[in-house]
Amino acid sequence: MRVRASAPGKVILFGEHSVVYRGPAVVLAIDRRVEVSAEPRNDTKICITTPDIGISGYYEGQRYYPVSGGETGSQHLRPILAACRSVMDLLQIESGLDLRVNSDLPMAVGLGSSAALSVAVVAALDAVWDGKLSVERIVELSMPSERIVHGTPSGIDNTIAAFGGGLVYELPRRVERLPDLDEVPLVLGNTGVRRSTGKLVAWVKNFKERNSSVEKVIDAIAYVAEQGRDALLEADMKRVGELMSMNHGLLWALGVSTPDLDRLVSSSLRAGAYGAKLTGAGGGGCMVAVSTKARQAAVSKAIERSGGYPLSVKTSKKGLLVQKEP
Ligand code: PMV
Repeated sequence: MRVRASAPGKVILFGEHSVVYRGPAVVLAIDRRVEVSAEPRNDTKICITTPDIGISGYYEGQRYYPVSGGETGSQHLRPILAACRSVMDLLQIESGLDLRVNSDLPMAVGLGSSAALSVAVVAALDAVWDGKLSVERIVELSMPSERIVHGTPSGIDNTIAAFGGGLVYELPRRVERLPDLDEVPLVLGNTGVRRSTGKLVAWVKNFKERNSSVEKVIDAIAYVAEQGRDALLEADMKRVGELMSMNHGLLWALGVSTPDLDRLVSSSLRAGAYGAKLTGAGGGGCMVAVSTKARQAAVSKAIERSGGYPLSVKTSKKGLLVQKEP
């Protein structure tokens, strides 16, 4: 039996980095997704194909055999293997698997592609072997994979990938699902610069250890995020935008913005966005602007004129989707 599972990417509107230190963060699922198709094999090979990045190969035990993309392809496939193993160990499965990954989410730019992938893999394998994992348990089992990619992730990306919609996430266990929000008019701008979330989180940790003011900046981000949640629930987009721009300033103070991100944020504001900020870990990757529907095209053009790559995305209610094929 073959299973297809897919999970969405996300955009963080408020609270990244602060969420690692137990501040609240507001996150929305977007309509770009990672899809995984999985089918059991009669042998013990775990075969993984990722046509989007041209890497495929198989594992027998811990040993990797490349098919395309060379030996180093294993670096990209190891997190996928970890997601497989967490389900297979739990369900005590010994047989092999064919796994194929397709994605319309750009990687390593703050849109949660690795989390969406690990959540989709866990859910697909659970369905292949008729497990009955809850959504919460799927999130938990996807975390070892995310740790390989990001070091010490807060879990926000995996949680939104599983649930979809919008939520406030706060460690240790607040997952406040936001009621059906009207579609939030977003414009995303990609700097085209890939970066590592793990390195940026480590940078902030180091900065915090050597400068006690950093803790105050992190607290201010948490405060702004809670206000942002309220403004979003009141559908007060002007205020949402104002708070997002404040959040950007605070992320700049944390040292995770870049001249490219600042430029895209400024040009979005000049083009009439209500507010804009970097989204995700920073250091490159994406920014997000909120505007009226009427200004979206102008904001998008301004991002392009400033050297960014506008991405058209919509917020999405859909979380994890699993479909069994006979
Ligand atoms: O992986 P990204 O770029 O979507 O960043 C996630 C948000 C961080 O707060 C920076 C890290 C985390 O795990 O919460």
